[in-house]
Amino acid sequence: MLKTKITEMFGIQHPIIQGGMHYVGFAEMAAAVSNAGGLGIITGLTQKTPEDLAKEIARCHKMTDKPFGVNLTFLPMFNQPDYPGYIQAIIEGGVKVVETAGRNPQAYIESLKAADIKVIHKCTSVRHALKAQDIGCDAASVDGFECGGHPGEDDIPNMILLPRAAEELDIPFVASGGIGNGKQLAAALALGAEGVNLGTRFIATKEAPVHQNVKDALVAASELDTTLIMRSLRNTERVLKNSAVTSIQEKEKELGDNIKIEDILDEVAGVYPKIMTEGKMDDGAWSCGMVAGLIHDIPSCQDLVDGMVAEAEEIINSRLAKFIA
Ligand SMILES: Cc1cc2nc3c(=O)[nH]c(=O)nc-3n(C[C@H](O)[C@H](O)[C@H](O)COP(=O)(O)O)c2cc1C
Repeated sequence: MLKTKITEMFGIQHPIIQGGMHYVGFAEMAAAVSNAGGLGIITGLTQKTPEDLAKEIARCHKMTDKPFGVNLTFLPMFNQPDYPGYIQAIIEGGVKVVETAGRNPQAYIESLKAADIKVIHKCTSVRHALKAQDIGCDAASVDGFECGGHPGEDDIPNMILLPRAAEELDIPFVASGGIGNGKQLAAALALGAEGVNLGTRFIATKEAPVHQNVKDALVAASELDTTLIMRSLRNTERVLKNSAVTSIQEKEKELGDNIKIEDILDEVAGVYPKIMTEGKMDDGAWSCGMVAGLIHDIPSCQDLVDGMVAEAEEIINSRLAKFIA
């Protein structure tokens, strides 16, 4: 057993969280991770309305009696989603953990705390993690440059970012980005984290509610198969290379800093259902981390989590202890 501030804070067995993932974080995913002793997370904005989120939360309660969370991503969008409505669905649904991400969640912290909900804010820099601490977040998820999705614009990998977070933060934090096995779990704990947050690795599991083509693509990919898009829009995203991504990168090369989101809408807007649900792997850009290079199988969530914990324990007890002369 690995007991950390994060297992204590969230009332979970293992210090392993499944980060919110668009069109992956349905009730089936969250429940499978929570039933395996980690913390599963439903992706709030994948549900089109607060009513849909309320139904998804209720479905998840039927699949697990363990704690699970909801991710709320604050996007720079013109048509803002009904965040107060989503928060209400979370509170009324009896969810006890919210993973916030993207923009500063300050406006909603008070109502979440009043409902006794723990908030873990995902961020890609020490300054943003400190801000999260200042505004009252209970924990941070520190997302390194390796991560699938949006690594921010600083490009600091976890080997530096995590010990920097440990130098500065008082609240507990988990290591996010690039993690998929027990060696990395042990390393994250050594670097000051109280647990880990996994995205990409959890997509290649039996229970992940995505098309088999997505899982097969992750097994086939190496650590060289991701790339960055949208840097000039200051919305950098790490994605798996495919023909849609090549098309985006050609436009980025051609238009340089003059590129607008409208220029690449075909490749990025509304593509997740086509990829994740229909398995049309070249229909758009989809977030994927460098950890793809460490994904060689499609285990159950239980086997993945148990294997990671056993490997980390073995490393801490045996391999690391043996170095002390
Ligand atoms: C397919 C996919 C979709 C994602 N969607 C979201 C999202 O909607 N909101 C969010 O906060 N993070 C999202 N993420 C980021 C993950 O929650 C997590 O922080 C990240 O995947 C960690 O890096 P890793 O993939 O290397 O484990 C997504 C990641 C992936 C791979």
